[in-house]
Amino acid sequence: MISEWLAGLQYRLGATIDTAGHIVPDTSWSARLQGSDRLWMLIEGTHVLSLMLFAGTILFVDLRLLGAVLRSVPVSRVAGSLLPWTVAGFLVTVTTGSALFFSDPLEYFHNFAFRLKALFLLGAAVNIFWFHFRVQANRPQWDGAEVPPRAARISAATSLAVWFAVIVAGRYMAYDWVKCMNPGALVSEIAQCSTYDATLAEIDAETAQ
Ligand code: HEM
Repeated sequence: MISEWLAGLQYRLGATIDTAGHIVPDTSWSARLQGSDRLWMLIEGTHVLSLMLFAGTILFVDLRLLGAVLRSVPVSRVAGSLLPWTVAGFLVTVTTGSALFFSDPLEYFHNFAFRLKALFLLGAAVNIFWFHFRVQANRPQWDGAEVPPRAARISAATSLAVWFAVIVAGRYMAYDWVKCMNPGALVSEIAQCSTYDATLAEIDAETAQ
């Protein structure tokens, strides 16, 4: 069902329909963004730059929580001065990421690396909630500690690991072997390539040849 909805987004939204009621290929908004000379690259470049801002500022907060850098500066000061940059970077990364996704929604939904990336993003979100609502609850007691307590260090190490995994999975999304083009058994299973093929067949029948 999700697959069919995304196919509608990719092939039908904004597309020209000919007199026989068929979709004219490559006329949808997604196809135009995908085929654009510069816009797609501009968005991807912005995605990468903003994720560097976002991941770079997170790195320093996590290293402080691990007691590895800026040990004499209270955690709240390090986090407080970097957080606005983290939030700004995150918003731009998510917005540009969503725009890139919109350029090829069905393909990305059935992309093994995209699914891993979504899973790691979910893991990062769970870790953020755990940190904010549990670990941070007694922060005044350890704010100035050179090495924060174990729970804070575990959360920081988890954050570093999952964000690293999100970046690696994001990088792998571009390779053909993670897509349903010519998938191995594991990729085919996890990316649900049989559903992808069935959805494409439906769209093919609606498209002008
Ligand atoms: C918030 C943290 C995120 C990080 C750290 C991240 C990381 C990355 C990285 C490293 C790349 C590869 C860039 C390159 O090598 O040129 C990438 C590309 C991409 N990302 Fe993200 N991303 C994030 C969020 C998102 C979100 C929320 C979405 C979609 C809803 C998304 C969709 C995409 C797409 C579609 C690509 C293009 C893949 C391709 O080359 O075909 N990203 N991302």
